[in-house]
Amino acid sequence: MSPQEVRDWVRAARRIVLLSGAGMSAESGVPTFRDAQTGLWAKFRPEDLATEDAFRRNPSMVWDWYAMRREALRQVEPNAGHRAVAAFQQRHPGRLAVVTQNVDGLHQRAGSPGVLALHGNLAADRWLDAPRACCDVAVLRTGSPPSCPVCGNLRRPAVVWFGELLPAAELAAAEDAAAACDLMLVVGTSGMVYPAAGLARATPGRVVVLNPHASDLDDAADAVLRGTAAALLPLLLEEQG
Ligand code: APR
Repeated sequence: MSPQEVRDWVRAARRIVLLSGAGMSAESGVPTFRDAQTGLWAKFRPEDLATEDAFRRNPSMVWDWYAMRREALRQVEPNAGHRAVAAFQQRHPGRLAVVTQNVDGLHQRAGSPGVLALHGNLAADRWLDAPRACCDVAVLRTGSPPSCPVCGNLRRPAVVWFGELLPAAELAAAEDAAAACDLMLVVGTSGMVYPAAGLARATPGRVVVLNPHASDLDDAADAVLRGTAAALLPLLLEEQG
């Protein structure tokens, strides 16, 4: 399949879902999940840090890892892929839904409306344990992580850690969108993590994988485009003449 043939599928599609993973943000300078971690964090695997157990065992280390990632995010911008998606949504309201595994908020910053963020949002925090009356974000004890000065409840990143349930409302909306679409663009994901990857196997729509490398969802695809998000999405989504 050529990008031009897939572009024809886009033009014919009434309901499109874009399912994105870390590769969507690679050209913004955000390392993908399974790239080797760099620097101080090189000796850790995300799977060893992004868990509630890891956080309870060593809250300051896990908090600092997220603080480093938040700081890194402040330096990056949405790329041409994010912008092409948001521009398409602008021109065709309601025709394309974004479902993302990314917690970097770049689809949202590019202007995409109604992004279904299945794994949460790196920029937000929540309470580690169910908040009590004393747990008030207006009076936090500062620290890494911040905490409630009365009961010691810790703040944690509002992301979905390994082994945790996905936000039910977002997942249900993503499943509904996948069930109703006639085209799903699967962009920048290794397809290794469920239930997100399962959306590409459950949809009745045509599935197109956009990835410079082989992925676990290639076998579920009606077409595979070997290329990057920032190069391919403008080709597929930009209005022709
Ligand atoms: N454009 C498109 N795809 C790219 C690009 C690019 N420029 N660069 C890399 N990729 C592809 C890689 O080939 C890989 O298949 O992006 C994919 C990134 O895969 P992962 O790093 O596994 O990220 P992802 O699939 O999003 O991981 C899913 O797993 O670790 C958990 O919760 C975490 O959301 C994450 C989930």
